[in-house]
Amino acid sequence: MAGEGGRLMHPSPVDAAETLATVPSRYSTPGLKLTPFYDITHYNNFYEFGVQKGDPAANAWRLKTRPWSVKIEGEVKKEQTFDIDTLLKLRPMEQRVYRFRCVEAWSMVIPWAGYSLSELINECQPKPSAKYVQFISLADSKDELLPWNAGISWPYKEGLRMDEAMHPLTLLAFGLYGQPLPNQDGAPVRIVVPWKYGFKSAKSIVKIRFVKHQPETTWNDMAPGEYGFYSNVNPNRDHPRWSQKTERVIGAPIWKQLQPTLMFNGYGDQVASLYKGMNLIRDY
Ligand code: MTE
Repeated sequence: MAGEGGRLMHPSPVDAAETLATVPSRYSTPGLKLTPFYDITHYNNFYEFGVQKGDPAANAWRLKTRPWSVKIEGEVKKEQTFDIDTLLKLRPMEQRVYRFRCVEAWSMVIPWAGYSLSELINECQPKPSAKYVQFISLADSKDELLPWNAGISWPYKEGLRMDEAMHPLTLLAFGLYGQPLPNQDGAPVRIVVPWKYGFKSAKSIVKIRFVKHQPETTWNDMAPGEYGFYSNVNPNRDHPRWSQKTERVIGAPIWKQLQPTLMFNGYGDQVASLYKGMNLIRDY
């Protein structure tokens, strides 16, 4: 599926849409079969726009992605706000194919466009006191949300430890399949952490806060027994209500739909050292 010049081609009407030129990346995962564009954009979790998998595709037109800015707050030398157009140009856009594993035991393979979050963090000059990073979605856009809240108090919040946020695999993503992120996938900018369950990858972010202590995160606050702060993909630690040993591959033919889940979603060589000394079953 990879086309010339690092662009990804796909046989669908979106070919006519705006494209994002990308350069190849050494952090891309080789040899994976991409999930079709249609599935990536019509099987979503984006509770601000509904709780059924097809709801975000139907409702996320409400999200206005221009103007858009990302505010940098907290333990940094200088708090500042980046306009989305500045962020788009901050570093070359890389094409990164990553496995994506949802805590609900389904998975996809997504060709993202973006650059390492560490590139932006370095621009922000965090203080040594910054031990964690919190991401805030859609904080100022409440009018655009659907009138329900799905039991979640908005804005959606996620977070990482500083070394996780600085890891080169942690992506600040602006596009997929060589075009800007469709609204339902978290336009205009989201986080992607490929070795963690998908809920750690906050969509449509408006704020990045550098903090001293482990920050509030939406699912961990709502159900700590089910969704840990770390939530690294781990086939040896079942969710209290279902097994995490296997996953359903979205968009695959029925006879290839179930596959074993890999520790750290297959990125263990690169990230396992972040968790040395931690008990990955208990410190979930
Ligand atoms: N970010 C926001 N703001 N709201 C959400 O509901 N859902 C999370 C994550 N980020 C979510 C979010 C979950 S549970 C998953 S699995 C992924 O987004 C889904 O991303 P996708 O729809 O692009 O596959």
